[in-house]
Amino acid sequence: MAATDLERFSQNADPEPRNLSLGGHVGFDSLPDQLVSKSVTQGFSFNILCVGETGIGKSTLMNTLFNTTFETEEASHHEECVRLRPQTYDLQESNVQLKLTIVDAVGFGDQINKDESYRPIVDYIDAQFENYLQEELKIRRSLFDYHDTRIHVCLYFITPTGHSLKSLDLVTMKKLDSKVNIIPIIAKADTISKSELHKFKIKIMGELVSNGVQIYQFPTDDEAVAEINAVMNAHLPFAVVGSTEEVKVGNKLVRARQYPWGVVQVENENHCDFVKLREMLIRVNMEDLREQTHSRHYELYRRCKLEEMGFQDSDGDSQPFSLQETYEAKRKEFLSELQRKEEEMRQMFVNKVKETELELKEKERELHEKFEHLKRIHQEEKRKVEEKRRELEEETNAFNCRKAAMEALQSQALHATSQQPLRKDKDKKN
Ligand code: GTP
Ligand code: MG
Repeated sequence: MAATDLERFSQNADPEPRNLSLGGHVGFDSLPDQLVSKSVTQGFSFNILCVGETGIGKSTLMNTLFNTTFETEEASHHEECVRLRPQTYDLQESNVQLKLTIVDAVGFGDQINKDESYRPIVDYIDAQFENYLQEELKIRRSLFDYHDTRIHVCLYFITPTGHSLKSLDLVTMKKLDSKVNIIPIIAKADTISKSELHKFKIKIMGELVSNGVQIYQFPTDDEAVAEINAVMNAHLPFAVVGSTEEVKVGNKLVRARQYPWGVVQVENENHCDFVKLREMLIRVNMEDLREQTHSRHYELYRRCKLEEMGFQDSDGDSQPFSLQETYEAKRKEFLSELQRKEEEMRQMFVNKVKETELELKEKERELHEKFEHLKRIHQEEKRKVEEKRRELEEETNAFNCRKAAMEALQSQALHATSQQPLRKDKDKKN
């Protein structure tokens, strides 16, 4: 390549963008509209995780937030451990479709030993990240119609004690804060007085800061919402009241909780922060929550997971990351490891065979010795029996001789006695 070509090539490789003014209307100013229309057709998914003690008002708040009745049965107080129960609903408002998943941490805080209460929640969040990662790593991915189940926000329900956060709350929030956007809320805020609530909020925020728990901050970098988000950040944690009842106030039916001494209106900002929560969660920051989940929490999970698998952005000489090189290196590493393992197993097998052979030989020798010993005993026995037989034979012979002599004597005696009377008769006659 000629020197001038090379110069031109290197110039083209990193060209400076030039500003041009258009002669007329082209049409790419409709790009945002195309994006909106595509997103509307595709629909959205939003996943909320509710963490809080049994009966703290999770289901009621969800019903109040989305102004509907989700069919959820009351959770048992006798679960052995925390169980995550996801339920998905298809909602529609105007022409926007929302696939809403509400995940309930059933049985949270019910166990005597609460050391591991956070684990099923962490595992569930990780499992959703893992599913997404697996889909991304597939050869044939279908992320377009993939049902994204990653948790976009965790509403952490704080018991309105008026004192301080429980250690279970602090531990759980600390374990979750790098995995999900946490919005802490004080539940059943109608059970705590106004002055106590103010102090309680300050105490909670102080405890969260001193324990290094990172909660979700409404973003203030977008001018359009910076002001309202900054104001709302100062109101955290929101103190909320939930209700599915409608009560007549003036001539209007409003969602409220009616008590003998008065009515707590859910949507009255003097009574609670429900409206603030709904504004922040749904109307203003839903997209930011989705984006933060993808760009911050999922990214962190993905990075750790890929690093665990041996992938790295750059090597020692800060070369750019190459998937193929890393894959080749990993493959080589894996094959040599496999070979090493195979060799180790082969050696182990040979040693085992040798050991067994030796054992068998030893056994054979022992058996042989045993056989020889038994043979000797047998011969000895045989010899003794033979001796006994001979002795017996001799005794039998002697006995037979004696018997014959006896018989001879007996017959002689018999003969003699039979001769005697004849002789007497003869004598008498004579
Ligand atoms: P589980 O699903 O069983 O864990 O309960 P949950 O956390 O979903 O609570 P749920 O919404 O079923 O409410 C439990 C009880 O608390 C019900 O009697 C509700 O009426 C009541 N409740 C809910 N929200 C509030 C509230 O803001 N203030 C008061 N005072 N009571 C509430
Ligand atoms: Mg419930």
